[in-house]
Amino acid sequence: MGQEPRGVWKSKLGFILAASGSAIGLGNIVFFSANAYRFGAGAFYIPYLIALFVLGIPVMMLELGVGHHYRRAFPEAMYMAAGVKGEWVGWFGLLNAAVITMYYITILAWVLGTLIGAFGSLWQASAVPAFGLEAGTLSNSMSYFFNMISRYDTVFYVLIVWLLNGIVVWWGTKSIERVVKVFVPLMWLFMIVLIVRGLTLENGSNGLYLLFTPDFEVMKNPQVWQGAFSQIFFTLSLGFGIMATYASYLPKDSDQTSNAFTISFLNCSFEFIAGIAIFALLFCFAIVPNASTLSMTFFVIPEGLGAFPVGVKLFGILFYTLLLTAGLTSSVSLVEALGSGVIDRFGLRRRPVVIIVCILGAIGSVIFALPKVIDPTLANDGTLGLTLLDLFDHWAFSYGLLICGFLECVFVGWVLGADKLRKSINKTSRYQLNISFDIMIKYVIPIVILVILGYAINTEASDGGVYGHDFVMGEQSNMHILVLVSWIIFTVGGALILTGIAAQKRKKKASALVDGGAGN
Ligand code: PFF
Repeated sequence: MGQEPRGVWKSKLGFILAASGSAIGLGNIVFFSANAYRFGAGAFYIPYLIALFVLGIPVMMLELGVGHHYRRAFPEAMYMAAGVKGEWVGWFGLLNAAVITMYYITILAWVLGTLIGAFGSLWQASAVPAFGLEAGTLSNSMSYFFNMISRYDTVFYVLIVWLLNGIVVWWGTKSIERVVKVFVPLMWLFMIVLIVRGLTLENGSNGLYLLFTPDFEVMKNPQVWQGAFSQIFFTLSLGFGIMATYASYLPKDSDQTSNAFTISFLNCSFEFIAGIAIFALLFCFAIVPNASTLSMTFFVIPEGLGAFPVGVKLFGILFYTLLLTAGLTSSVSLVEALGSGVIDRFGLRRRPVVIIVCILGAIGSVIFALPKVIDPTLANDGTLGLTLLDLFDHWAFSYGLLICGFLECVFVGWVLGADKLRKSINKTSRYQLNISFDIMIKYVIPIVILVILGYAINTEASDGGVYGHDFVMGEQSNMHILVLVSWIIFTVGGALILTGIAAQKRKKKASALVDGGAGN
């Protein structure tokens, strides 16, 4: 069976739109604002910008450089760069990202549900029978959300979102490029409309005032730094194996330093203007966001939109359409990275791989959408799916991405040699990297990540693991441990199994070659 040809981007613009479409997602529109609010508003920009320059841009160059140099998806590129252990890092990153994408798609399914609600019921008071709550007990948006997540309809929405992902990656780069050429510019347009609306509202600039009035006290808090560092990895889609895969489809002579700057610049400017839009919108109605990403998305923002003097429905529909498209152009990139990882490593055909990835992913997302009510008082997360989502997010987002970033830097920096990668990047780049790139990859980034992780683990042990959760965890420590163990088995164990199978395959191929050679 001959191997299918690998994908190629038709144009540089296609690649930039696809990579920036991956980077720009829920992370930019809602998670950034929630984190910025939680971590001292204006002051958050300082750790955020430091994280961007110290971690974000160099790791972006590393991932683009590795993918482009070896022209293979992440696990195989890491194998070629740093051997079997490097390959394990590649699978670990992809599997951790798969966990994130499973719940990310569940959140997108809720976004789809809220978009449908924006045509009417989202703005009305309703009872929440699953929790025994009468109409008016919760705000309109809260009752809409808890009604939605305590019903099986969301499972159907999950399947629709996975189907859309499958369709977009069905023809690989060809179909991805077509979709991003339409939707990424549209996202910018929608965001500009929202920002103009936010700023022209009476008192809209109060939000800006808060966003740009730094509270420097919070910078003494290491949790703020962990928040900024994880946010940078997440928002730039780093530690997911995505950028390496996308860069592997680029022509041989493309310039990775300029690509890294362009993608980071587009992503962070989108995040910046989204922050302005959301803060303006909320603060003109004096809504102080509860510092959580999900409550920001589903309770606080609809409350702000619902208070508009005119055009509530219109702006509601616009906002949730924006979220859905931004989320989709991100999730497809991981489906492509996972699929391509398997295709490159095991020589399988695209279509069956896409189908299997989508079915397995959909099963995972359905688990996060499980509507079983486990705490009718809502003091905890309310439903089983939401509780699991919250706990998996804690490990995969706050730890997994940073661990993957740390391992990438160590293996590429020390085993392959940062200088070798730098020379390869420089060969086709206008802006030449110097030895400071090597120092960042070999020393600075691994040390910074280790310090942050060490601090986080220490805090974890001393506050019982409550830190970092969207909702208060209460008495669910058994579930906490169960989730931690499952996450480790899925990522660490899964990566071991995949690396083992790939090694077996290589051995077989080598001995077939020897046998073939002996027969000649
Ligand atoms: N960069 C995306 C964001 O900021 O929303 C995060 C992301 C999530 C990327 C899921 C890819 C993905 F599959």
